[in-house]
Amino acid sequence: IQPDYENLSLWAARYIARSIKDFSPTAAKPYVLGLPTGSSPLGTYRELIRLNKEGYVSFKHVVTFNMDEYVGLSAEHPQSYHRFMWDNLFSRVDINPKNVHILDGLAEDLELECAAYEALITESGGIRLFLGGIGADGHLAFNEPFSSLSSRTRVKTLTYDTKVANSRFFDNDISKVPSTALTVGIKTVCDAHEVVLLANGHAKARAVQAMVEGGVSQAWTASALQLHPRSIVVLDEPASGEL
Ligand code: GLP
Repeated sequence: IQPDYENLSLWAARYIARSIKDFSPTAAKPYVLGLPTGSSPLGTYRELIRLNKEGYVSFKHVVTFNMDEYVGLSAEHPQSYHRFMWDNLFSRVDINPKNVHILDGLAEDLELECAAYEALITESGGIRLFLGGIGADGHLAFNEPFSSLSSRTRVKTLTYDTKVANSRFFDNDISKVPSTALTVGIKTVCDAHEVVLLANGHAKARAVQAMVEGGVSQAWTASALQLHPRSIVVLDEPASGEL
């Protein structure tokens, strides 16, 4: 638990940077990093960019897999998760664009796209560290309440609550928010060697309490992390308010 968002972001970025450095990735054995979108990781990304510019950490041999993407938005759409990741991280660090993987929400065969994504993660040797955020209803990636805890990458229908929460990025117009998304599953996240979950602000306090202190339940899908041997929850004071 960190006093504020700034310190939460510094802690998480330094943890990730140290993990990449300790691994000493090479072209033959890259470091595989799972990444989220959302406002929670923005500070962490800013700090990772700074650490990269200062030469403390390199992304040259880092391979990334993003958690999710809206169905129906092109990579160029201002609210696509492709665009978010390029604007807020990838275009500002020394990553090789070929090493970036994000689900294609415009794929002709969405099921095939999801299966191919899972296969690619496996081929890459599995995810070393999955960074995540949490929705106010406890969702992880787009694994909405009552998603199977053994789920893998698939198409998911977004709940009304998620559409309302994300409408802030779509001119506050819920009708503009896509109704479905492609998302890694809970099992995909839990298969990672390590998971680091960020939550800030009091709006997340109830979800954090359910995730950390409640029973492992499909009702709060992030609670599956309780069963993960190496999962770290990084909070600011307000997000820890119900613990
Ligand atoms: C979306 C994303 C999640 C993210 C959540 C919370 O639903 N699919 O990965 O954790 O929003 O977002 P924020 O960090 O903006 O609160």
